[in-house]
Amino acid sequence: MAEGNLVVKCSMPKSTSIFICQQCGYQSPQFLGKCPECGSWNSLVEQAGVRTERLLKTTEVVKISDIAKYDFDRLSSNIDELDRVLGGGIVLGSIVLVSGDPGIGKSTLLSQLAINTKNCLYVAGEESPQQVKLRVDRISLDADFSIVSETDVDATIQTIENLKPGLVIVDSIQTLETQDLTAAAGSVSQVRECAHRLQRLAKRLHIPIFLVGHVTKEGTVAGPKTLEHLVDVVLSLEGDPSSNFRVLRSAKNRFGPTDEVGIFEMEENGMKEVKNPSEILLDEKVNAPGSAVAAILTGLRPLLVEVQALVTKSFAPIPRRVGAGIDNNRLQLLVAVLSKRLRLPLYEQDIFVNVTGGIRVVEPAADLAVCLAIISSLQEKPLTPKTVLIGEVGLLGELRKVKQLEKRINEAKKLGFSKVISPSQAKTLEEAVKSATS
Ligand code: TYD
Ligand code: MG
Repeated sequence: MAEGNLVVKCSMPKSTSIFICQQCGYQSPQFLGKCPECGSWNSLVEQAGVRTERLLKTTEVVKISDIAKYDFDRLSSNIDELDRVLGGGIVLGSIVLVSGDPGIGKSTLLSQLAINTKNCLYVAGEESPQQVKLRVDRISLDADFSIVSETDVDATIQTIENLKPGLVIVDSIQTLETQDLTAAAGSVSQVRECAHRLQRLAKRLHIPIFLVGHVTKEGTVAGPKTLEHLVDVVLSLEGDPSSNFRVLRSAKNRFGPTDEVGIFEMEENGMKEVKNPSEILLDEKVNAPGSAVAAILTGLRPLLVEVQALVTKSFAPIPRRVGAGIDNNRLQLLVAVLSKRLRLPLYEQDIFVNVTGGIRVVEPAADLAVCLAIISSLQEKPLTPKTVLIGEVGLLGELRKVKQLEKRINEAKKLGFSKVISPSQAKTLEEAVKSATS
């Protein structure tokens, strides 16, 4: 069928450079003062060097039925929580982006990965080898991996070609640059081009490459967002800097599920895997007014978290609703439901809700716990001890079903909770409130 590739040489129209928006990556053949895509001013930067001729070739076509079932070659990181988030280990030749706020523990986790893997090369663009060693010494005294302090991507690629390491860690992608582009390191075009070159290398040499990507709150540094479609796996390391808990989530995974999470605790000597997160999260819980326990799912695992609410009289013209660990819009919606359906006088109250341990709740199954934490704080009355709340609250005040209820109930029982309030016992928010406050 395929009779070799047809190679045709053709001339392209003369094009010397393109202009790339440093905020969103929009490309234009001429300079524009304002980016038509994202509206930022003076954000277009010239990128030189477009080839004036190229090779055109036809590509081989295969029938889907002719493709043999293929299992990816995987390497274990020897960190179970990381392996799970990756879908069962590191796929050879894949590019994994690890993003997260500065100081959250990306370098620490990846240093542990370097310690655990045979023949690893750590490309430190941000730190000197001594600084990397200082961190590694906190984790293990018999670490044995290679470090190169380099910011030139082409030199890095050459080093990788020569050394042929088993795994490469680039800390961070924002510090790498190629001399072929005029833009500064950290700009969208540099970050994208460097990641692209590394991706081609990973596929060619069958070496997995981990890239660290910083996210800034302002989003001014060209960040991981522009890389997401380029890489195979996107992991984000999250957590409240004031708490030791860190959650590793997969936002994209070409080789596994995307709702899996790994849970770690940052300790003096590195990140420790947490095997019993619910126990640790509820360790400091006291049965005071404003405290409720929710059973949420993180990936496939059930997790019990404490939701705390503080309801106080407001002196502002518009009362405040502030959520930490839960979506603010969801909080507003739940407060509206409580006001309308249960006729609670919340219009003159400031409401603060926090999920302890720095855990971020993304599913509505925690709605009932949020509502009851608010009610309990408003009424200054603790909920019935040893109660777990599960259920999504609808706009009509109904309690809606959640997925995998059985799994959540089992986790609650395992941790000694004697009462579970869920949509299978209570059909409405009102019924659930009666049951939890009786
Ligand atoms: P780091 O991995 O450098 O963060 P990132 O690469 O995401 O910017 O971690 C920074 C913080 O972690 C710093 O405050 C020190 C702390 N830390 C520990 O608590 N324990 C440790 O074993 C290490 C290495 C760091
Ligand atoms: Mg770092």
